[in-house]
Amino acid sequence: MSYAAIIGIGSYLPERRLTNADLERLVDTSDEWILTRTGIAERRLAGEDEATSDLAIAAARAAIADAGVAPEDIDLLVLGTSSPDHVFPSTAALTQTGLGLRCPAVDVMAACTSFIYALQHATATIESRRARTVLVIGADALTRHVDFTDRRTCVLFGDGAGAVVVQASDEPGVMGIDLGTDGSGADVLTIPAGGSALPCTPDRLAQGLHHVRMNGAEVFKFAVRVIPETTRRALAASGLGVDDVTWLVPHQANQRILDTVAERLGVPRERVVSTIANVGNTSAASIPLALDDLYTVGNLRPGDVLALVGFGAGLTWGAVIVRWTKGPAR
Ligand code: COA
Repeated sequence: MSYAAIIGIGSYLPERRLTNADLERLVDTSDEWILTRTGIAERRLAGEDEATSDLAIAAARAAIADAGVAPEDIDLLVLGTSSPDHVFPSTAALTQTGLGLRCPAVDVMAACTSFIYALQHATATIESRRARTVLVIGADALTRHVDFTDRRTCVLFGDGAGAVVVQASDEPGVMGIDLGTDGSGADVLTIPAGGSALPCTPDRLAQGLHHVRMNGAEVFKFAVRVIPETTRRALAASGLGVDDVTWLVPHQANQRILDTVAERLGVPRERVVSTIANVGNTSAASIPLALDDLYTVGNLRPGDVLALVGFGAGLTWGAVIVRWTKGPAR
């Protein structure tokens, strides 16, 4: 059996910062409210000339350099996003040419769970020996879809990208995976207009239907239920239990979600990776960004067990258990 292992990692954050103080000038909010209700202090905004593919290319360059592979070694590019540059061509196609790659490239769209779904796609392709080396990217510029007059949503999101290079290996690597979707919860978190259901018209634009709409309380309840469930299922599929987890790397949406999940799973808080204060909710980028943070500060050691766990619109969720096989950070 051929396994899949992460051999390179990289990330990118745009330069422009949006602090809570900046948001106080835009909407009726306060630094204190945002910090205590979400844990977010600041987030990054893609520059006006930066699209999602630009973020993806920067993160992927770092991951490819970290892996030490040549561009021609990459057999497949899978890019998770829900803020594509265009409806088509895919953001993966634009990223592929920007990186000078020749391999097939495809977008995976599962909102904030997109990176987990993309990693599952890469793993399955490697395990079935249809590819040896796969570039997996999570990239989003969701602030492009946020209404900066809506205080319930505009304080939450930020832009960024993270990437990993996954390669065939004799040892895992990627272990158990659990994925789920429940489309009956589609209305809980949605960008209603701009697709085939509700094409953008002046009337719909005036109603703001092209912006993120969210029932925050419902998303919160969903997240704190589904994260422990999917984590336990993926661990069981790996023959492991919660006590074996070195690092829980959940999607970064709200510090209170992370705290509740730590308690429900029985994972000590210091084992739950949190980067939310500085980046906010970066959607598909959030898990690889958090993983890269862990890696670059030198907190990952060969043999560590990582539980990467996502959730988001769809509703979607999923967990991937990874045994870390790489040496220390570059
Ligand atoms: N600043 C100040 N007040 C705000 C505010 C803001 N940015 N946003 C909302 N409020 C107000 C509300 O209007 C409400 O006022 P009211 O009681 O007068 O009506 C009050 O704060 C409480 O709102 P509520 O929605 O109950 O707050 P909350 O504690 O549930 O926190 C979220 C709201 C959005 C932070 C929280 O529900 C959340 O994080 N949910 C998950 C969202 C998420 O993760 N989305 C992405 C998933 S991928």
